[in-house]
Amino acid sequence: MPAPQREPGSMSRKSPAGASPAGRPPVGKESEPVTVPDFVAAKAQGRRLATLTAYDYTMARLLDAAGVDAILVGDSLGMVVQGHETALPVTLEEMIYHTRLVARGVQRALLISDLPFMSYQVSPQQALASAGRLVKEGGAHAVKVEGGLRCVPAIEAIAAADIPVMGHIGLTPQSVRRLGGFRVQRDEPKLIADAQAVEAAGAFAIVVECVPSATAEKITAAVKIPTIGIGAGPGCDGQILVSHDLLGLFDDFKPRFAKRYADLGREILKAVETYVREVRDGTFPDADHAFR
Ligand code: KIV
Repeated sequence: MPAPQREPGSMSRKSPAGASPAGRPPVGKESEPVTVPDFVAAKAQGRRLATLTAYDYTMARLLDAAGVDAILVGDSLGMVVQGHETALPVTLEEMIYHTRLVARGVQRALLISDLPFMSYQVSPQQALASAGRLVKEGGAHAVKVEGGLRCVPAIEAIAAADIPVMGHIGLTPQSVRRLGGFRVQRDEPKLIADAQAVEAAGAFAIVVECVPSATAEKITAAVKIPTIGIGAGPGCDGQILVSHDLLGLFDDFKPRFAKRYADLGREILKAVETYVREVRDGTFPDADHAFR
């Protein structure tokens, strides 16, 4: 009997291999895409938002099928995909490219894409033009900018064009040179003022990165829009992690807050070592993986 053959493209777009949604998705309707209003309403409804990063089609399909509420194409791809020490070298063209890959894999999650370093700092006009490209050419549903008060003109310009925009306060990795490293941010009055400024400027949500849990709780109470924490404790309205950290795919740098839910790096090493051994000793390919 001939071995079963997989046709190119035969995996259903609706059911990635091995993935099954974990229970009822918490935001929006189960089978319908999560919209920005659904995302915002989750806060008042007391439903916690589970979000992750993705940078390509395969990962986006898996995360989407597992029921995440939003996928962020983060400029963290500079580190976990491109191998840079920081996100600073990532370009707008690269963000558009990765957003396009992810967009093809997303059916339900809200798709948010990062504006990379120097694609929005020059002027509100530059911010709007860059955001527009992520939506129009990349397929993003929303964009994210880093910074509090200083980002108000950019957020206002983007939001005024009906492009949903997310803020990002606390540790803003694009400020790594000024901050001197990836450090916990503790200036509570400034952080609260930043969050309120971002909300007043028209952002629909805010990432709060690397701040003490008690401060994140106060920030969350001080705004009506959802706060999405990373290294900000349990008091935020939702959480985000870099998927490579959660899955154990990235070892160069391991933030304390990044809980590892799987060790796929080790699984990949084991699988590839087995493949190398089998090719060398002639046990692969066997009859099941060859044609008669
Ligand atoms: O770039 C990124 O992945 C991010 C998240 C960690 C929030 O900004």
